[in-house]
Amino acid sequence: MNKSFLPKGKIMLLTLSLVLLSSSMAFAQTEEAPDLGKVFHIGIFIFFALVFFVLITLIAYHNSEDNEVPSLIKALSFLNSKLTNATPIENEEAVLLNHDYDGIKELDNVLPPWWKYLFYVTIVWGGVYLFNYHVINIWPLSDGEYQEEVKQAEAQKAILLGSGALVNEKTVTLLTDQAAIFSGGEIFKKNCAACHGFKGEGLVGPNLTDNYWIHGGGIKNVFRTVSNGVPDKGMLTWKTQLKPKEIQEVASYVISLQGTNPPNAKPPQGTLWAEAPADSTKKDSVKK
Ligand code: HEC
Repeated sequence: MNKSFLPKGKIMLLTLSLVLLSSSMAFAQTEEAPDLGKVFHIGIFIFFALVFFVLITLIAYHNSEDNEVPSLIKALSFLNSKLTNATPIENEEAVLLNHDYDGIKELDNVLPPWWKYLFYVTIVWGGVYLFNYHVINIWPLSDGEYQEEVKQAEAQKAILLGSGALVNEKTVTLLTDQAAIFSGGEIFKKNCAACHGFKGEGLVGPNLTDNYWIHGGGIKNVFRTVSNGVPDKGMLTWKTQLKPKEIQEVASYVISLQGTNPPNAKPPQGTLWAEAPADSTKKDSVKK
C-alpha cells in the first residue's frame, strides 16, 4: 500500500524552492551590493536548512516500513516523536501510574512537547547567537554598536555644522574663503548698505571699516551685534530675517572690510578694538 502523501523527490523540490525563496527575499532587502557578511550568513543558513531536510528525509526513509517512500507528514511526525518522546493521548494507559488519590490519577509523562520545543529553540538560538556575534561577527557587540552610533552622530553633526544651522555667537568662526565672503558681500549690499554705505564707510550706521567698535570687534561680537541688533539705536535685529549661516557670512564680510579706507568714511566711533586671542568673546568696548 502506498500512504505516500508527497514522494521523496517532491519533498526535496519543495525544500529547495522554500530555501531559494527565503534567500532571494533576504537578498531583495539589500539595496546595493550585498555585503559579504550577509551573503555568508545566508549561505550558512541555506546549508543548514538543506542538511536538516535531507536528514529528516533520510531518517524517515530509513525507518519507513518495507522501504516505502515516506510522506512529508510521516517524516515530520517521526521527527516529532523523536524530539518530544511524548506518549500520544490515545496511549495514555501506558503511562498511567497505579496511584489513585480519591479518584485523581497520575500520569508518568515526560516533559510536554511545547516545553521541549521551546528548549530546542533556545539551543538553536544559542548557536545562531554564538555564530553571528562571535564567529563571523556580523552582528555588532555592544562596543561595536557604540562605535557605530558615535559614527552616525558624528556624521549628523558634520551635516548640521555644514548647513550652518548650529552657528551661534559662541561657536561662530571667521569665514575667509572667497565664496563665503562673496555671498556675505551680496547680503551686505542688499540689507546693510542703506545704513552702512556700499563700502561699509558708514551713513546712518557707523563706519564698519575702521578698527573702532561700539559693540566690540571680532567675529563673535560682530555676529552677536548683527544677530540681536541694537534696536534702540536703529540697528535692526537680523536673526529674524537671516539664517545663522548668512549672519556668519555677512559678519565675516564686515570683518574683511577692516582697513579698506573707503572714501567719505565716517569718523571712528567706539573704542579701538585689539583682537587679543583670536576669536575672543571679550567685549572691550560697550558704550551705550
Ligand atoms: C536701518 C539702518 C541699519 C541697517 C539696515 C543695518 N544697520 Fe548696522 N547699525 C545701524 C546703526 C544705527 C548702528 C549703531 C548702533 C549703536 O550706535 O549702538 C549699527 C551698528 C552695527 C554694527 C556695530 C558696529 C560697532 O561699532 O559696534 C555692526 C557690526 C552692524 N551694524 C552691521 C550691520 C549689518 C551686517 C547689517 C546688515 C545685515 C546692518 N548692520 C544693517 C544701522 C543699521
